Amino acid sequence: MSRSAELKTAKENKADEFYTGLVDIENEMKYYKEQFKDKIVFCNCDDPYESNFFKYFAMNFNYLKLKKLIATCYDESPIAGEQLSLFDLNYVLKSDKPKQAYKIVINEVSDINGDGAFDMSDVESLVKNKKNTLSILKEDGDFRSKECIELLKEADIVVTNPPFSLFREYIAQLMDYNKKFIILGNINAVTYKEFFPLLKDNKVWMGVSIHSGDREFRVPDSYPLKASGFRVDEKGNKYIRVKGVRWWTNIDYSQRHEELILYKKYNENEFPKYDNYDAINVDKTSDIPVDYKGIVGVPITFLDKYNPDQFKIIGFSQGDLFIECGGLGASQKFVDDYYKNGGTGSIKEGWKHVVYYENGKPIVPYQRLFVQLIEKDSD
Ligand SMILES: C[S@@+](CC[C@H](N)C(=O)[O-])C[C@H]1O[C@@H](n2cnc3c(N)ncnc32)[C@H](O)[C@@H]1O
Repeated sequence: MSRSAELKTAKENKADEFYTGLVDIENEMKYYKEQFKDKIVFCNCDDPYESNFFKYFAMNFNYLKLKKLIATCYDESPIAGEQLSLFDLNYVLKSDKPKQAYKIVINEVSDINGDGAFDMSDVESLVKNKKNTLSILKEDGDFRSKECIELLKEADIVVTNPPFSLFREYIAQLMDYNKKFIILGNINAVTYKEFFPLLKDNKVWMGVSIHSGDREFRVPDSYPLKASGFRVDEKGNKYIRVKGVRWWTNIDYSQRHEELILYKKYNENEFPKYDNYDAINVDKTSDIPVDYKGIVGVPITFLDKYNPDQFKIIGFSQGDLFIECGGLGASQKFVDDYYKNGGTGSIKEGWKHVVYYENGKPIVPYQRLFVQLIEKDSD
């Protein structure tokens, strides 16, 4: 997709406007305190008046011993600049545009009122401090714009919840500039052909705190109240619950090196071999047979327990990623057997998807990650 087509999609896609809850941010960031010391943190999809990421880092600036905090606000955000108009402050450069991208740079936090409820008056105090600045951006605040890339180059750690529709491009940019990051995304990113190699090569992994259930996000007031899982609070703010949310990071933490305890032994009746890939099928991560040396297909939620010292990631069960790791397209025989046994959907010979037989019945499993236990030296 071209950049302009992508932008159009992003702008039309209301699903990009989900505001992360402060508690979810706190629950993750607490594991990285040491890594934040003396670092420049950049929140590059964050209106400082709205974003709990900005709020969290401003409130904890001294506690985390941050060197600098930068946040940039995208001009297409429905809330961009709304709050700025409430100020009549000289440090806000005047602009003719109704909505304007801007940045805030915090070098010192000495005057937050400390009542625990960080609000606009706190932001106002922050920017009145001569060491901090709030200024209009020349471009639109897009994380890919030149100005934002210059800020990215300066930053040590990027922390945000980026627009869902641009996730692939967002993470590619972080990798290109060799940045540390802690970002919110979805577990389905595993299936992206651009993202999977990063997981496989141990360049990205899941964060610490979210491994199941759904998470609540605030959405703009204009958001239609259609889906189930919506809530409106006493102030009229709208919220939606989202499934599959996960933190993605490339900062190490001790919990990811904990061994997954395995107790099952391999037997061929319980763990069928795939028809078109040299691996066995396992339906639950905790059932991985401890003594099986070959490749194992597990649900993608395996990543919630993944210890890179215990397992290596080999491949993925669908699409081009399946072929890349040595999978073969489904055979004509399997396709015929599948339909004879009442299978639905449209599959045909060569279909790029792992399949198997269980007690003679053709099975198409849900998406699988292929993993292998790392053999330990027995000395
Ligand atoms: C999922 S929301 C999260 C907002 C905020 N980071 C938070 O967690 O509360 C993504 C934000 O990115 C903004 N955005 C969309 N496209 C963008 C782009 N190309 N560059 C920068 N920000 C963008 C949206 O306006 C939206 O506010």
